[in-house]
Amino acid sequence: MSSSQGYGLLKGKKGIIFGALDERSIAWRVALACHREGAEFALSNAPIALRLGQLDALSQATGAPVIPCDVSSEEEVDKLMTAVREKYGKIDFILHAIGMSPNIRKKKEYTDLDYRFFQQSLDISAISLHKILHYATEVHDMVNDGGSVVALSYIGAQRIFSKYSDMNDAKALLESIARNYGSRLGDKKIRVNTVSQGPTMTSAGSGIKGFDGMYLFAEKLSPLGNPSADDCADYCVTLFSDLTRMVTMQNLYHDGGFSTNGISEELIADLARMYSQDDGLS
Ligand SMILES: NC(=O)c1ccc[n+]([C@@H]2O[C@H](COP(=O)([O-])OP(=O)(O)OC[C@H]3O[C@@H](n4cnc5c(N)ncnc54)[C@H](O)[C@@H]3O)[C@@H](O)[C@H]2O)c1
Repeated sequence: MSSSQGYGLLKGKKGIIFGALDERSIAWRVALACHREGAEFALSNAPIALRLGQLDALSQATGAPVIPCDVSSEEEVDKLMTAVREKYGKIDFILHAIGMSPNIRKKKEYTDLDYRFFQQSLDISAISLHKILHYATEVHDMVNDGGSVVALSYIGAQRIFSKYSDMNDAKALLESIARNYGSRLGDKKIRVNTVSQGPTMTSAGSGIKGFDGMYLFAEKLSPLGNPSADDCADYCVTLFSDLTRMVTMQNLYHDGGFSTNGISEELIADLARMYSQDDGLS
């Protein structure tokens, strides 16, 4: 069977996919890959994003209902879980692909953050994972044994990327919540992991000032180059499948080798060229 037809890895599995905005969104690509692999799922995003986005097209392509939910509201997360439980009963997987920093949007420097915005960045991008897990497991007890939860992260959690500003902090918190919850859900055999994706041209990604430079740097440093949103989707499928049932509490780099490579031949050659040009001018 070719990979374009799928391997049936998620046959019979049900889930929730948060964060598909338009066809560039990583969550959009994950939804298509999960559909290809035989899963059924609900799509969710903030009401405002549903108005701006093109989610109806994805809903039609995958047969997935769209359930609005602003994850900054506990009440909305609770309502969403109630609606999903009514439709599907217990579920097997959740994708958290949600990130937003009002400070980055408003071009506030890290040393001059608006603290209300900072709290929103942490709430929407990180604490929402805690809320989702709390309502799905504690309140509604709607995740099957063997279930899998994946949240998308970025290497800014470990190493500082100046333009990523308070999202570096938000991702560090997100990864910590995944570990904390993962340790508590082990008795139910529920896995919680983060996938640290390399830079990807999406609405959230390209909204960051200097993103093109970060993208190019990662492309040149990573032995395999930058992973696409579709590559990330395939990786998420493996994590939702039973093939990774003993993987939990991990931050898994999906970055073409970026996180481990020190420098590449290409970057050395580029820097040598720049140095010799400078030399020629002086
Ligand atoms: N693009 C990249 O380079 C990159 C790299 C690593 C990790 N990520 C992460 O991947 C995830 C998905 O981002 P993306 O790049 O696909 O961009 P995207 O803009 O397509 O997705 C971000 C989503 O978050 C949703 N969102 C924002 N506020 C919300 C709220 N209050 N309630 C519910 N949803 C809300 C947006 O509507 C959007 O759908 C994010 O966590 C992002 O940080 C992205």
